[in-house]
Amino acid sequence: MDVDRCAFDLLQLNTPLVESIRETIRAQGPQSFAWFMQQALYHPAYGYYSSSRCAIGRNGDYFTNVSVGPLFGQLLASQFCEIWERLGKVNDFVIVEQGAHDGQFALDVLEFVQNCLPQFFDALRYRILEPFPILKQQQRQRLEAFGDKVKWPDSPEPFTGVHFSNELLDAMPVSLISDGTEKLVGLNGDKFGFVERRVHKTISNQAALDCIDEIAANLQRGYVIAIDYGFLYEEFERNVRVRSQHRNLDSPFEQIGYADITMSVDWTSIVERAQANGLCVAGFTDQHHFLTGIISQFGRGGSPEPPSGDRDQSPLADSRKAKRELQTLLHPEMLGRAFQVLVLAKNLDASAPPLAGFKFARERRMR
Ligand SMILES: C[S@@+](CC[C@H](N)C(=O)[O-])C[C@H]1O[C@@H](n2cnc3c(N)ncnc32)[C@H](O)[C@@H]1O
Repeated sequence: MDVDRCAFDLLQLNTPLVESIRETIRAQGPQSFAWFMQQALYHPAYGYYSSSRCAIGRNGDYFTNVSVGPLFGQLLASQFCEIWERLGKVNDFVIVEQGAHDGQFALDVLEFVQNCLPQFFDALRYRILEPFPILKQQQRQRLEAFGDKVKWPDSPEPFTGVHFSNELLDAMPVSLISDGTEKLVGLNGDKFGFVERRVHKTISNQAALDCIDEIAANLQRGYVIAIDYGFLYEEFERNVRVRSQHRNLDSPFEQIGYADITMSVDWTSIVERAQANGLCVAGFTDQHHFLTGIISQFGRGGSPEPPSGDRDQSPLADSRKAKRELQTLLHPEMLGRAFQVLVLAKNLDASAPPLAGFKFARERRMR
């Protein structure tokens, strides 16, 4: 066996995906980082997400709020229920989730609502926007018990309710443009590297902006809740993060198709795009303050729905496990400060009091 050759292959990952990326660059010249990210994460056959290679949680590549445990979904379910009440307890209240991965968040929400918020459960419809067949299949299996309550539309449909995403926008392809210079992905022999070009364009997060356009076009009345890690103007720092097995890798050219690639979300441009589409900001804060607000309003049985029977309506089970989950979600050095929550509203009374999640929100300047 040629040991040197094996080591080289391992380092470079000479997979069909890497070969196909090289082929395109050889034929067409350096490509945008957005194109590279699209291949690495979403290539139909070999992408990190689209081939279902991605694993989230303790035995995977990274943690998300959802992988911490069911508490996150339970707290958000209470917030969704308050929104349903704000909308006059409409009959067909739709939660649209995008970036649902294996369906765990949907399961946590639906189980909690079914057990603790029965009136809301009757009115609720859950829709998952999932472009990747293999993930859709996993979601269907996980959510089988909920039958027709959950559906997977082929394309986005008009809805009244909430659009929810957790770490969706940071997983969308971005170009690397700064001060009129774009970093493109090129080849030096077989090795990937960046090539700089002067450019006139300035938009780097086109995919995320298109996503906002699509949500705004379909939301008839209700809210958009986006949770992600990102920055406002004044905190401008743009980092491509590459993660595998709970380690940050040094370069996006390591473990292509086997590692996660994300970019911190430019919240300001997201808000500007949303406003241009007729949405308004209903709140922006960090996850710590958002979840604390929900807990303070609904955490001790203060459910938005009146009590029914003997069901326990508190999303805060009094177990050690739930306390550990809570600490992970809230602690500033864990997930509490890392993530921000943006809530956008459409066709709602602008003078309405803030949602529970913004009860303790510190003022953040949004232009
Ligand atoms: C970082 S993961 C987050 C998964 C899950 N929300 C969680 O918090 O555990 C990002 C997810 O977004 C999905 N995704 C990326 N672009 C998407 C799109 N345009 N529509 C739907 N899902 C998308 C990916 O497939 C992946 O499952």
